[in-house]
Amino acid sequence: MHAQQPIDIAVIGGSGMYELIDEPEIRVVSTPYGAPSAGIAVGRFAGRTVAFLARHGSGHSLSPRRVPYRANVWALASLGVRAVIATAAVGSLHPQLPPGQFVVPDQLLDRTGRIDDTFFEDVPQHLPFADPFCPAIRAALADGLSASGEAMTTVATTAVIRGPRFSTRAESRALRAEGADVVNMTQYPEAALAAELGLGYASLAFVTDADAGPGSGSPVVTAETVLQRLSEARPRIVAVLDAAIRALPRDYAPRTLVPPEVVRTLLAGSPA
Ligand code: ADE
Repeated sequence: MHAQQPIDIAVIGGSGMYELIDEPEIRVVSTPYGAPSAGIAVGRFAGRTVAFLARHGSGHSLSPRRVPYRANVWALASLGVRAVIATAAVGSLHPQLPPGQFVVPDQLLDRTGRIDDTFFEDVPQHLPFADPFCPAIRAALADGLSASGEAMTTVATTAVIRGPRFSTRAESRALRAEGADVVNMTQYPEAALAAELGLGYASLAFVTDADAGPGSGSPVVTAETVLQRLSEARPRIVAVLDAAIRALPRDYAPRTLVPPEVVRTLLAGSPA
């Protein structure tokens, strides 16, 4: 049944979010970039038809380095998705931004050094990426956070590191000095790839830790802390997603950052 319905929005679930939809239809999509992280679960959530993709695979089998970002974004675009909310765990680089709080970043610093970060390898296109996150989806996230009674920060720069290791104290200080407020391992290249294929994209980030800590001797982030805090926060994250998706206008249209014919031509190369 779901196969006939256009998909209103996709959620890419980060660590700690491996499913969202009850009784979904699982779509197995092939792409020129290989298989996505997992089958794409399509079904009803928040009164809409929603596609859900577990970024790290079902059961967290993929490290940040191994996430097939291009296949994931391509698969969602080929299903007709136009809006993406991506959940993410982030470390805070500011004492004023404590663990347990939500952030909807408006800016991004790419510190991944990845080169598989574009669909435009053989196409003479240059993505305008000054405002990396879609303002309309960010507004829906802010509405969803308010409706859920959550404190939030919506003016924030996220630095994206390659991982899988966490930062040294010096790297953490340097990121902060460069203007970053939070740090993560997956928001790039996902945000740029989504924009290249004409998808609106914004990130719902949850602060799990204080990264390498404010000074020597202070507690440092571990993967166990991140996963435990995310698992505790899961009901809050799902409630915010529900409220944000309800707040996204039904006639939502992404910004036109890339000529639509370029996107159509790229997607037309996709295998059936
Ligand atoms: N994800 C969650 N916390 C993080 C941190 N401190 N650094 C990088 N990615 C993270």
